[in-house]
Amino acid sequence: MRWLACVALIAACGSAPAPKHAQDHDADDANDDDGATPFIDTKGYKPRSFHDAVTGKGRPVIFIPGLGCPGSVFDDVVAHLDGKVESHVLTLAGFAGEKPTKPPLAKAVRKDLVRYIRSHRLDHPIIVGHSMGGFIAYWLAATAPDLIGGVIVIDAGPALGDNDPETAFFAAYDAAHQVVGTASVRREASPWGEPGWRLRGMATEPELRGRGIGAAVLARVFEHVARLGGGLLWCNARIPAQRFYEREGFVTRGEPWVDPDIGPHIVMHRQVEPI
Ligand SMILES: CC(C)(COP(=O)(O)OP(=O)(O)OC[C@H]1O[C@@H](n2cnc3c(N)ncnc32)[C@H](O)[C@@H]1OP(=O)(O)O)[C@@H](O)C(=O)NCCC(=O)NCCS
Repeated sequence: MRWLACVALIAACGSAPAPKHAQDHDADDANDDDGATPFIDTKGYKPRSFHDAVTGKGRPVIFIPGLGCPGSVFDDVVAHLDGKVESHVLTLAGFAGEKPTKPPLAKAVRKDLVRYIRSHRLDHPIIVGHSMGGFIAYWLAATAPDLIGGVIVIDAGPALGDNDPETAFFAAYDAAHQVVGTASVRREASPWGEPGWRLRGMATEPELRGRGIGAAVLARVFEHVARLGGGLLWCNARIPAQRFYEREGFVTRGEPWVDPDIGPHIVMHRQVEPI
């Protein structure tokens, strides 16, 4: 089988006051701009949370430096690429002489990047992140998987700032050890206030969908929740994924809504029995 070598727990860490909107397929995400300019799908969006330096032509690659570092830490890499890719080197707000922006910075950068990629019509850019930039890259991949072409992370944990040992991140790997499916789960009360677990970042590599990878990753999520006492498992489901979740025992609750960046959603949930 080409695609699924294993489904692995890649990290179990975390607490973090659960970002009350941590992904672009979140209901509340539409409202958590922290004053950022609303998304306008036109070229020229000027992000507040980073400065960009663009050079070269070809496949877009976005470089995100680590905490306190200027974009110039990637100078050698960009020189090595010799203009054969379109390099977008970021320097984050508050570092290297850039004007600070309202915290939290990582969230602002992630949201700005979604808008930046769309407004500059970047076709599935590769995201290269170092340290905190790597965390932002993971976060972007988990929340806007359809927007990016891949992630290269240098010296970063998959869940920086997320220290709850019950939070878990799962990945399915193919035989070449490429990640082809993801999910994460953490304790978080449902939108109607019931204690439970929140599922996020469910995604399968587009050309490998419909082969059971999503179901295999979800099975590990169920097992994780079950081992920790079970309970309510809920998510903000994209409407196109509703059938997938229904097949996995989820039911809808409430009315659908439209996230301006990524489309229609509905809350879905199910119970997981303890083991
Ligand atoms: C939703 C998503 C994660 C499902 O992942 P997936 O790997 O395709 O999931 P599966 O393969 O387990 O199941 C998908 C479908 O394939 C079918 N399927 C599974 N194995 C199959 C097989 N061997 N042969 C034929 N069909 C199969 C399943 O019955 C299922 O059908 P349904 O969704 O119409 O009920 C994936 O479509 C995705 O990444 N979508 C974009 C991001 C997204 O919407 N994520 C959810 C955010 S809430």
